[in-house]
Amino acid sequence: MKTLVTVGRGGIGKSSFTALMAKALINSAQSPILLVDADPDQNLAEMLGIDLKEAGKSTIAELLVSTFIEQGGTTVGIPPTQRIESRIWENALFESPNFDFLAVGTKWVEGCYCMPNSALKGALESLTKNYKYVLVDSPAGLENLNRRITSNVNDIFDILDHSKKSQDHVRRAYKIAKEVDMKFENFYLVGGYRFPAELSKQVEVDLGFKFLGKIAADDQLDEFVLNGKSLLDLPSSSKAYLSVKAILKNLGYL
Ligand SMILES: Nc1ncnc2c1ncn2[C@@H]1O[C@H](COP(=O)(O)OP(=O)(O)OP(=O)(O)O)[C@@H](O)[C@H]1O
Ligand SMILES: [Mg+2]
Repeated sequence: MKTLVTVGRGGIGKSSFTALMAKALINSAQSPILLVDADPDQNLAEMLGIDLKEAGKSTIAELLVSTFIEQGGTTVGIPPTQRIESRIWENALFESPNFDFLAVGTKWVEGCYCMPNSALKGALESLTKNYKYVLVDSPAGLENLNRRITSNVNDIFDILDHSKKSQDHVRRAYKIAKEVDMKFENFYLVGGYRFPAELSKQVEVDLGFKFLGKIAADDQLDEFVLNGKSLLDLPSSSKAYLSVKAILKNLGYL
């Protein structure tokens, strides 16, 4: 099982990148795949053509509230990890022939929720064992690294644009990931669709991480997002899709 986490500043193209990675993995029959939307704004579902409410599924945050808070956490006899795990399977996991999907949902406050948080970690650890790839789409802020829902990560992809802020993001994200003792194998740079390709070598030198390539700017993708169409339905000739596919191929994942 490989866990790939995408981070980066707001609006830089994280969710699109995650959806395109899923498309590439699906097309090369790298299944089963689990997609996890860790962003409270929940844009990833739409990019995958999913309507969770319509499918009768809850977010994990909603499940935690109904399992632990409303019931006072006193379902006798069943350990919390197991309790939340079976509820995730039944009520949160969206299943489709090509991939499964989970939304973490709204933020919860650290501290009063720390018990469900640790139960959640345990449950997710056991649940994710069933997949070949787990792709995590992050919110723009870095607090989610703190939560360490995903404790054993293979690759972190930090997406860059032309701004200095996106380079600051890289330094901060790496520092926080280290500080919270997140276990990860690789920290990679990916050029977002607005990243000037000629800066590739420069950012590698300046930031000290491997640059995997650039996501091509693609008007068709933008049009799909604007109209709420699934990015999985982009044609295989889509420039953005081909560039993401090349990145995964270089990593040996396809
Ligand atoms: N390769 C691309 N070519 C053109 N436009 C793109 C590309 N990737 C993303 N966009 C556009 O940029 C906007 C933001 O994309 P996306 O939602 O993927 O970013 P994000 O980093 O997940 O944002 P947020 O921080 O809000 O979650 C969308 O309008 C999308 O259409
Ligand atoms: Mg997003």
